[in-house]
Amino acid sequence: MKKIGLFYASSTGSTEDMATEIKKSLGDLDITMHNIAQSANDEMTKYDALIFGISTWGDGDLQDDWEDYIDNLDNAELSGKTIALFGLGDQEEYPDHFLSAMGTIYEKIVSLGANVVGSFPTDGFEFDESSAVIDDMFVGLALDEDNQDDQSPKRIKSWCDSIRPHFA
Ligand SMILES: Cc1cc2nc3c(=O)[nH]c(=O)nc-3n(C[C@H](O)[C@H](O)[C@H](O)COP(=O)(O)O)c2cc1C
Repeated sequence: MKKIGLFYASSTGSTEDMATEIKKSLGDLDITMHNIAQSANDEMTKYDALIFGISTWGDGDLQDDWEDYIDNLDNAELSGKTIALFGLGDQEEYPDHFLSAMGTIYEKIVSLGANVVGSFPTDGFEFDESSAVIDDMFVGLALDEDNQDDQSPKRIKSWCDSIRPHFA
């Protein structure tokens, strides 16, 4: 069975909660969770495949711990590795930068040769701009715990079902 590392960061705990739900939903897989704030620089190299959880702060910026960690991705041996992303944001307060930090991580890992899976429909969201959207799809699972927490369980389930074959 593939060893999967789920790496996340979280300022108020929402991304951590969603990471826990995703791990539960993929309970049949071998997933280890890591908060990147406490992760060694080379921690990701132990895994066959990766899931990253990212919230957006400032005006479309990376959450602080991701900001501190992102340069480590250069040495994380991501070329050819399967990676799925999930992002948290607030579409009502930040409609011009909704989930944009997920877009920043996406661009970075694509430039390093990662095989990114798990795009997600934009249906049901209302926002103006997001650098996490390509060809009308989010580059990963989109979650808005500030305005649509009732939608998260079904979004997580459908996304986990869609990525499972890539991680099994
Ligand atoms: C000061 C501040 C700035 C934020 N900026 C953005 C933003 O630019 N885009 C966005 O989609 N969400 C933004 N958010 C919403 C957070 O991403 C959202 O609350 C998220 O669930 C936080 O997750 P975390 O507590 O796990 O870090 C912002 C929230 C705050 C309080």
